[in-house]
Amino acid sequence: MEPFLRDRWGNPSSIYDFGRRERKAIDRARHSVAGLLNAAPKEIVFTGGGTESSNTAFNCALNVGDRRPHLILTSVEHSCGLRAAEYYERRGHRVSQLSVGSDGSLDLDELESLLAEDTGLVSVMWANNETGILFPVEPIARSCRQRGIPCHSDAVQAAGKIPIDVCSAGLDYLSLSGHKLYAPKGVGALYVRTGAPWQSFILGGTQENGRRGGTCNVASIVALGAAADLAQKRMVESEAKDRRLRDRLEEGLLSLPSVYRNGMADNRLFNTAYLAFEGVESEALVLLLEKEGICVSSGSACMAGSTEPSHVLTAMNVPRSRALGSVRFSLGRTSTDRDVARVLEVLPQQLERLRNSVASRNPR
Ligand SMILES: Cc1ncc(COP(=O)(O)O)c(C=O)c1O
Repeated sequence: MEPFLRDRWGNPSSIYDFGRRERKAIDRARHSVAGLLNAAPKEIVFTGGGTESSNTAFNCALNVGDRRPHLILTSVEHSCGLRAAEYYERRGHRVSQLSVGSDGSLDLDELESLLAEDTGLVSVMWANNETGILFPVEPIARSCRQRGIPCHSDAVQAAGKIPIDVCSAGLDYLSLSGHKLYAPKGVGALYVRTGAPWQSFILGGTQENGRRGGTCNVASIVALGAAADLAQKRMVESEAKDRRLRDRLEEGLLSLPSVYRNGMADNRLFNTAYLAFEGVESEALVLLLEKEGICVSSGSACMAGSTEPSHVLTAMNVPRSRALGSVRFSLGRTSTDRDVARVLEVLPQQLERLRNSVASRNPR
């Protein structure tokens, strides 16, 4: 990115030489992102991140052509899908949410029963951002294609980690975000199949072949291209390392009393461990671990002072006491055996400390 932040300040939309050079750099990045997904470069639109990509896909499918009003998405989509669905519902669209089982999996028969004449979009994430569970996007997209229904996948968590082939999947739209594959925050891409309904979401100039207005964020786009190349090169090796570390971490933590895995053990991203520590509040555990230099996420969202369990765990029918004590560990390129050993050393002490303090506050 550095040259593009410092010296290469040309505007890629300008026709003078140092503008054209920037445009070439963007074209190279487009090629790289297309390569990661087995798409054609012209099918890639750079965006400001996963949320914009996903919102754009909804806009394309629901606001163009015959404007069929029915939208189907899973009940465990990221908020960028769920909030968009609420928006369309308020404007008269019919929204169906696909449920998940207690193991986090989708029921394809339920989807089949929901597909209707007026379905204008099916949106199913490739991998869930809390559980890491992988959804069967390919058969879903095939089913949609047979019925002429546009299909989008939010692949923000999956892209760069596992192989994705948009051609064989038969998808119309796919969203990805830079910061999930070691590119900067605030850049992303939308795959739009050639021939899929299209409507610009960000209206303005003719950038991105007339598909997204606004001067291009050259440095971040170049970085996304480089990250896509590296992700492709390192995919196999990253999976082997992170899976081994994740399994070691999970095995150690699951051996502690009243600790449970949320969702199934198989068929999920190799870098995610989402565990329920019964009897503690996840925020408290997250803060204690942070003091020890360990950064993890709680799956719950704080709303107006009260802690509500995450919508994903609620959809999976996870008991409230476990949902409120759920913590997500994400491993990545920099994670090491030492990191895992440290978590396995520190976490049991902090867990015991928290459980003891809860017990002393609530004597039987
Ligand atoms: C599954 C999923 N979709 C969408 C997004 C939103 O991406 P962005 O923050 O780039 O808008 C995220 C971000 O974490 C995500 O995990």
